[in-house]
Amino acid sequence: MSIIVTGASGNFGRKAADLLLDKVPASELILITRRPAALAAYAERGAQVRYGDFDEPASLAAAFAGGQRMLLISTDQVGGERLRQHRAAIDAAVAAGVQQIAYTSFIGVGPDNPAISTVEHTATEAMLRACGVPYTFLRDSQYADAIAQFALPGALAMGAWMSSAGDGRIALVAREDCVACAVAVVSTPGHENKIYDITGPELLSYRDCVALAVELSGRPLAYDAVTDEQKLAFFDSIGVPRRIEDGMENSPIPWPGEEMVSFERAIREGHFAVLSDHVERLTGRKPKSLRQVCMENIDKLRLAA
Ligand SMILES: NC(=O)c1ccc[n+]([C@@H]2O[C@H](COP(=O)([O-])OP(=O)(O)OC[C@H]3O[C@@H](n4cnc5c(N)ncnc54)[C@H](OP(=O)(O)O)[C@@H]3O)[C@@H](O)[C@H]2O)c1
Repeated sequence: MSIIVTGASGNFGRKAADLLLDKVPASELILITRRPAALAAYAERGAQVRYGDFDEPASLAAAFAGGQRMLLISTDQVGGERLRQHRAAIDAAVAAGVQQIAYTSFIGVGPDNPAISTVEHTATEAMLRACGVPYTFLRDSQYADAIAQFALPGALAMGAWMSSAGDGRIALVAREDCVACAVAVVSTPGHENKIYDITGPELLSYRDCVALAVELSGRPLAYDAVTDEQKLAFFDSIGVPRRIEDGMENSPIPWPGEEMVSFERAIREGHFAVLSDHVERLTGRKPKSLRQVCMENIDKLRLAA
């Protein structure tokens, strides 16, 4: 059973490849990347490392040839070219005769969700439902890693976490658990036309995250609840472009202001308040908590404090 992994040189793709190498013969692993040299170590272990670029659809026929299952990792071009890229990948997978496409989507997607970053996930899910190949949607929650490694250390350094998410809640999940679920659905049978909500073990507000940071760091940290307009004004003041088309080259944060504010609005309005047991059902183990992920990154928290 040959398994394609796209975006294989990224954080998610490499970890998926590592786990898959323990589950399937290396020769059955097809790793797609725009930078094959970055995956030379995997080629040495016997994996098929192939060049493929969703921006060059002609490269994808050879890239996907012989693949039976595919892990389609959403690209990082949020609000930009992502939908066109996913269209190219899906069309090529259909033409190559792939029999299952597992896609890294996001929890709470749907037409009513105001978060700009979910729009392309909703549209990609629709393309997959219509393409005729069995799909598996991995609706990942927000990564706890991003909170532990960036949001909380950044807030501790500033003394406050400014947020318009209010007391809305989200079940932050370890990326490691998302990867383990993705690997499970492409390496075991029975996941065709299934939707999984990949969440952590508890719904938390950002205020809860702040309380945890105070407890673990021993430093004071305020939760500064602001409106969407105030949050957008803050992003304006530090030079974050509102939209991706305004140019992100000089932005201090890699996401546009309107997108981040719309994400917090979606939390506040409850669109991401999804809690499931799918991680345990797919992996056989309980998902990591934010506390566990913070403890794995405790040096970052203490350094920022
Ligand atoms: N749930 C969450 O909180 C959360 C947070 C962050 C990201 N995400 C999603 O999860 C995805 C994976 O995260 P990550 O940390 O692994 O991101 P990453 O390290 O930035 O990897 C993104 C991958 O997208 C691939 N890609 C970009 N443009 C492409 C193109 N034109 N053709 C083919 N592949 C292309 C890249 O593949 P190559 O460079 O190997 O070609 C890269 O490996 C992200 O892209 C994003 O959609 C979710």
